[in-house]
Amino acid sequence: MRQGFHISILIVLMAIGLSVGQLRRSTIVRQTNQIQTHANFKAEKIVLAAKYFLTDRQSPQTAQIVANGFNREYTIGVCIGTPPQCFNLLFDTGSADMWVPSAKCPTSNEACQEHNKYNSSASSSYVADGRGFSLQYGTGSLSGFLSTDTVDIDGLVIRNQTFAEAITEPGTTFVDSTFDGVIGMALTPLSAGITTPFDNIIQQGLVKRSVFSVYLRREGTSEFGGEVIWGGVDRSIYRGSINYVPISMPAYWQFTAKSVKIQDTLLCDGCQAIADTGTSFVVVPLRAYNSINSLLNATDSGEGEAFVDCSNLCNLLNVHLNIGGTTYTLTPKDYIYKVQDTNNQTLCLSGFTYLEGNLLWILGDIFLGKVYTVFDVGNERIGFARLRKNSTYAYSSYGRQPSVYGREPPKYDIDYPVYGDDNSRFFT
Ligand SMILES: *[C@@H]1O[C@H](CO)[C@@H](O)[C@H](O)[C@H]1NC(C)=O
Ligand SMILES: *[C@@H]1O[C@H](CO)[C@@H](O)[C@H](O)[C@H]1NC(C)=O
Ligand SMILES: *[C@@H]1O[C@H](CO)[C@@H](O)[C@H](O)[C@H]1NC(C)=O
Ligand SMILES: *[C@@H]1O[C@H](CO)[C@@H](O)[C@H](O)[C@H]1NC(C)=O
Ligand SMILES: *[C@@H]1O[C@H](CO)[C@@H](O)[C@H](O)[C@H]1NC(C)=O
Repeated sequence: MRQGFHISILIVLMAIGLSVGQLRRSTIVRQTNQIQTHANFKAEKIVLAAKYFLTDRQSPQTAQIVANGFNREYTIGVCIGTPPQCFNLLFDTGSADMWVPSAKCPTSNEACQEHNKYNSSASSSYVADGRGFSLQYGTGSLSGFLSTDTVDIDGLVIRNQTFAEAITEPGTTFVDSTFDGVIGMALTPLSAGITTPFDNIIQQGLVKRSVFSVYLRREGTSEFGGEVIWGGVDRSIYRGSINYVPISMPAYWQFTAKSVKIQDTLLCDGCQAIADTGTSFVVVPLRAYNSINSLLNATDSGEGEAFVDCSNLCNLLNVHLNIGGTTYTLTPKDYIYKVQDTNNQTLCLSGFTYLEGNLLWILGDIFLGKVYTVFDVGNERIGFARLRKNSTYAYSSYGRQPSVYGREPPKYDIDYPVYGDDNSRFFT
């Protein structure tokens, strides 16, 4: 009897273990010890403007300053071809295209020379496509052609994935980037007419549920930047329930937020918001940008950058976002960047920024770094849940490279607690 009881508990535990075990995971890697500079900030805005099809107002001088700027994002390991050629790709829920530098790029493409390159001649599973591909940046264009090959994301092996081989890259924007290319995780209608990797994962039956979920780690100094869980959610990562809201337009991960408030000032009422892991900022419409700056006593540079007095951070106000009835509170600690200027002076920049012509609330890592986000493609909805403060997920030792090829994954030096004390105050 007693033994039988123990055995059934064991079976239940094994079943739980198996069901969690069936979810594939990718480790998100982030750059450590990155000194954020004013130039990085500007470079990120150039990349963002391109992603949201906005014309960027940066002067040619600014374009010069932004050399090597865009390099502080979250990446995952992805291998292409047979035998595999592996890349670190920016994990970007704010775009829907996948591109890698091409082995056919000219030596004049400095960014290409500095990164891993895809060589189709060296892959037996390569299928030629050859259609042209181009993305327009304020600093130039990223262009090349399409190719099709097997794409392996930590053991999820996608057959016939079409992606772009980049021949030219915009100026020096990507020269020093930690990532080789980008994997777009937005929805297929946003792509250049190509089925996205995740839609292929669904169509090829590689996951049980058409969902992926993500948490990003912002604090601490380790390279372990979070995880992507493919095909479901992992209960050990979050507590409470998942707050789902419908996708308002299936392209970006766009949804309606009920409101955004600072004290009693309503910054928006039924705002269109986007969850974008590929940016660190919160990009807001011009009117909201001006209101936020006046409430923070911030000074605008004229280029969508708002500086606050570094000695006044403790007096800054919290920003409250209401999504589906739950309020998420961003504190100054979340949204103020301390950046270094060219003469090593520390500046305090607001993470609320503005891009000309933009009417959306683009919620980047300032927001997404505080929640467990569920990207539910099948039900066209997005969900946010509270992260557990300390759970085993903090110790994940998944590596940068897929382990299916017999390589030992690198061990990350995991420091924790993973989330700051104010995570509990984030949800109200
Ligand atoms: C691409 O691979 C082919 C076949 O392995 C090789 O001959 C060629 O040198 C490679 N090209 C580059 C640019 O690495
Ligand atoms: C991939 O493409 C090849 C060649 O076009 C085709 O034979 C194969 O059936 C395709 N596989 C899948 C899974 O679509
Ligand atoms: C902004 O300035 C006003 C007037 O000087 C002051 O009353 C207020 O406390 C300041 N707010 C912040 C957040 O510093
Ligand atoms: C800024 O700091 C770096 C590294 O500490 C130093 O090499 C450089 O000379 C400094 N620049 C200025 C303008 O002080
Ligand atoms: C979580 O943190 C508390 C307090 O620091 C500790 O007592 C507890 O053992 C931790 N739990 C896990 C699963 O690490």
